[in-house]
Amino acid sequence: MSERVQTAEEQTANAQNASATENGNILEVRDLKKYFLIKKEWKLKKVPLPDAGEAAELGPQGEIAEAVGEETVAPSGGAAPAETAENAKKDGAKFKRKIELEKTFVKAVDGVSFDVPYGKTLGVVGESGCGKSTMGRTILRLHDVTAGKVFFEGRDITAMKNAELRKIRPEMQIVFQDPYSSLPPRLPVGEIIGEAVKIHKIVPNSQYRDYVIDVMRKCGLQDFYFDRYPHEFSGGQRQRICIARALAVNPKFVVCDEPVSALDVSIQAQIVNLLKELQRDLKLTYLFISHDLSVVEHISDRVGVMYLGNFVEMGDKKDIFSNPMHPYTRALLSAVPVPDPHYKVKRIILQGDIPSPANPPKGCKFHTRCPHCMEVCKTVAPKYKDYGNGHLCACHLYSQE
Ligand SMILES: Nc1ncnc2c1ncn2[C@@H]1O[C@H](COP(=O)(O)OP(=O)(O)OP(=O)(O)O)[C@@H](O)[C@H]1O
Ligand code: SF4
Ligand SMILES: [Mg+2]
Repeated sequence: MSERVQTAEEQTANAQNASATENGNILEVRDLKKYFLIKKEWKLKKVPLPDAGEAAELGPQGEIAEAVGEETVAPSGGAAPAETAENAKKDGAKFKRKIELEKTFVKAVDGVSFDVPYGKTLGVVGESGCGKSTMGRTILRLHDVTAGKVFFEGRDITAMKNAELRKIRPEMQIVFQDPYSSLPPRLPVGEIIGEAVKIHKIVPNSQYRDYVIDVMRKCGLQDFYFDRYPHEFSGGQRQRICIARALAVNPKFVVCDEPVSALDVSIQAQIVNLLKELQRDLKLTYLFISHDLSVVEHISDRVGVMYLGNFVEMGDKKDIFSNPMHPYTRALLSAVPVPDPHYKVKRIILQGDIPSPANPPKGCKFHTRCPHCMEVCKTVAPKYKDYGNGHLCACHLYSQE
């Protein structure tokens, strides 16, 4: 693959943002939120009059609607208009009635902040539904951002318009979990890998075929696969095609969203090793999402543990694996199989199911399942604090000062 040559525009943008990248981070995520609207319903609510002195009977969804800045408007031709405060007061009532649009949001990503240095891999683990994929896609602006900022090489990509975004697309790529559904069935492999090469004019047309074949070779695919179709390949080969497609546009940063979960264990190892080799050779930076801790341990430099849309712990790989602080991380680690029959691990079984991200528990979101839950955990969210060496944790078991 050819070395990335910066355009004049890129050079200017990079110079402008030099101060932001001086700290060596390719990616800086600040309080990123992604909420999905899943239900809208008009509801009749009782709202206390100013001197009624009683708490509003607004449910949590009402607060969310306010939090994301949605206007509350009565439906035209719907239920009776809201009673005025004055009329209600004259009648001696303590409440007025109001029609409100109640919106239910899934708080898939609920305020995450982290940095990823150049050439490193941040592994992200967590149970199904905790928001890993949504976070990865929101960082790449494949989803709209609800709130927060994402800086890629110092450039705020959350503020970018579509045209600007299109220009930096080749620099930020994604490899999806399912190599079966993520490849178009009617295109030959060479065209799949080369499609974006043509769109972004990575090489002149005369060099196109040689360039794509070179990328294919780097990803362990043979030259004659160029004219074959995806259904003629195994799962492992298809994932190599997906990786080749992502790398063909010379990215700097790749989100790997469970790239090996759909594969056999032996093939998983090949793909993880391929990703590591490509990272070393092409100086790539990865956000590696997985729920398999042993794979994450193998490939990552730092590891973040997600629960219900937030990181509960993050740190260097060795700190997370040898000194896990958060009870959730400890439970996840206790479930990792150890290939030694004499080594006994006390498995921590978490009680209950993951709560709904549409209505997460108050206080510490993990309190409903935590074996160490205290009274304070039920009402006060713990601070996400650095306990040394960049080892961050959010738990009342540790000093909150
Ligand atoms: N387009 C969408 N509309 C509504 N809700 C969504 C949408 N996409 C994801 N969600 C919800 O957001 C939450 C996080 O989903 P996400 O796919 O990010 O989880 P995940 O951690 O990647 O899970 P898995 O390990 O199963 O891939 C889930 O509750 C999911 O149902
Ligand atoms: S804050 Fe409390 S409930 Fe949450 S993980 Fe720590 S001990 Fe458990
Ligand atoms: Mg996912």
